[in-house]
Formats: sequence, C-alpha cells, structure tokens
Amino acid sequence: MEVIIHQTYAEMSRAAAEAVADVLNAKPNAVIGMATGSTPLGVYQELVRMHKGGGLDFSQVTTFNLDEYVGLPTTHEQSYHRFMHENFFRQVNIPPQNVHIPSGTTSNYRAFCAWYEQRIEECGGIDVQILGIGSDGHIAFNEPASSLSSRTRLKTLAKQTIDDNARFFSSRDEVPVYAITMGVGTIMEARKILLLANGAKKAEAVAAAVEGPVTSMITASALQMHPDATVYVDEPAASKLKMREYYDWIQKKKPDAPRV
Ligand code: GLP
Repeated sequence: MEVIIHQTYAEMSRAAAEAVADVLNAKPNAVIGMATGSTPLGVYQELVRMHKGGGLDFSQVTTFNLDEYVGLPTTHEQSYHRFMHENFFRQVNIPPQNVHIPSGTTSNYRAFCAWYEQRIEECGGIDVQILGIGSDGHIAFNEPASSLSSRTRLKTLAKQTIDDNARFFSSRDEVPVYAITMGVGTIMEARKILLLANGAKKAEAVAAAVEGPVTSMITASALQMHPDATVYVDEPAASKLKMREYYDWIQKKKPDAPRV
C-alpha cells in the first residue's frame, strides 16, 4: 500500500480527488465505487468544484455505492441514497440511470445482492473505488470477522458501528441493525483503491490496516494484498503509524520526482 500523509483534511481530499480525476481523464466512461460517511465529503466537494469550474465530465460515468442501511426509505435523512444525492449526484452530470446504490428496502435481499454483483461485472468492473474506514477497521460495512473473500450481502452491524453512527440519528435505537454491503472480495476486485482517513479517532484503525497483520478482524487490512491501493491520511490519522517517516521519505524520493 502507498501511504500519503497530508497536513490537512483539505489537502488530503484534494489529492484523492485528483487521483479520481486522473482515472476519469484517462477513461471518461470509468466506473467509480462511491463511499458514504463524513470522510469522503471533501473529495466530493473537490470533484464538484472540478466539474463546475474545470469541466470535469461525468456524463459517461457509472457509479456503484458500497452500502446502504436496511429499512430506511431512500428519502430518509440518514439513508445513503439521500446522502449521495445531496452531497454529490445532484451536483454533477452523472446520468441517473448510471447510478447504483444497494437497496435497503428490497423484499428479496439475496436476489438483489446477486443482481448487484452481476451489474458490476456487466459494467466492466470498478475502475477506482473510494473507501473510508470505520473506527474498528471496517471497510463499507464489512465488520470484524467478515470473510476477506465475501461478496455483496446482508450484514448485521457491530455494536461499535451502531455507537459510532448513533450521532446521526435522534436516538441509538433508531440506528438500523442491518445493512447491504459490498463484500471485501467485491472491493478487492476494483482496479484501483483509495482509502481515506482523517482525525485522531481513526489513527488506530489506520495503523492496524496498514502495518498490522492481514486479518478479518480489521477488514481494511485486506488492502495489503491489493496491487494498487493508496491510503490518504491527515496528520492526526497518521499519528500511530510506526513507519511514517519512511512513507514521507518514499514520497520525497519518488523516482520521477525532480532531483535537487
Ligand atoms: C460507515 C460506512 C463506511 C465508512 C464509515 C466511517 O460504517 N459504511 O463506508 O467508512 O462509516 O464513516 P466516517 O467517514 O463518517 O467516519
């Protein structure tokens, strides 16, 4: 994994957005894997800015979201459908028929999940996947002990995730207990992965994912096995990385960096 440490959340978001834009510039009909949560908001704002100010075109883009809560209607304030619409889709020119978000209200979850996997394949696979990380090291809603080869499925949320997300609901009891999520195996098939983390609350999860053993207890650690995964962190999220000086050194000494 490549680890890129930025001073601020804004710089980190800009760098990750540029990586997405590079994929789009090389392949205007790219398939993007989208994430929710507060972490990728800066990337979405930056992509919207590139679209409005710099003409970054999304008209041929297809998207697949990682996950959705089960039981929330798409109009619910905390549904990931609503989140994506408000924070990204309504501000760029992705054709609505190209947007895919797991359904939290389907009557047949098994069939829906199989269809979602098939749709990703039909669209040629995910070119670039944006990811956040849960404080327990999960990616999407692949909670600790999820199989590292899991596919899209219904998942029961861990207590820590429910606690973490309770702040968005009026009470803890309102946080859904189930979600539909892409599996770790599904995510690992993306050609390029960008994992984002900011803030001290993520420092331990980041250190475990990057420098700990590959384990289903920290599903983000599976990315160590991915050939093109980059971790974008701000200073507080990088604070528990043992090899952080080396990561900075790598960035300074990149073979194509200008020589002093
Ligand atoms: C949820 C989402 C994850 C996200 C995580 C962290 O669990 N399913 O995709 O990475 O929250 O959210 P935040 O970025 O708000 O810390």
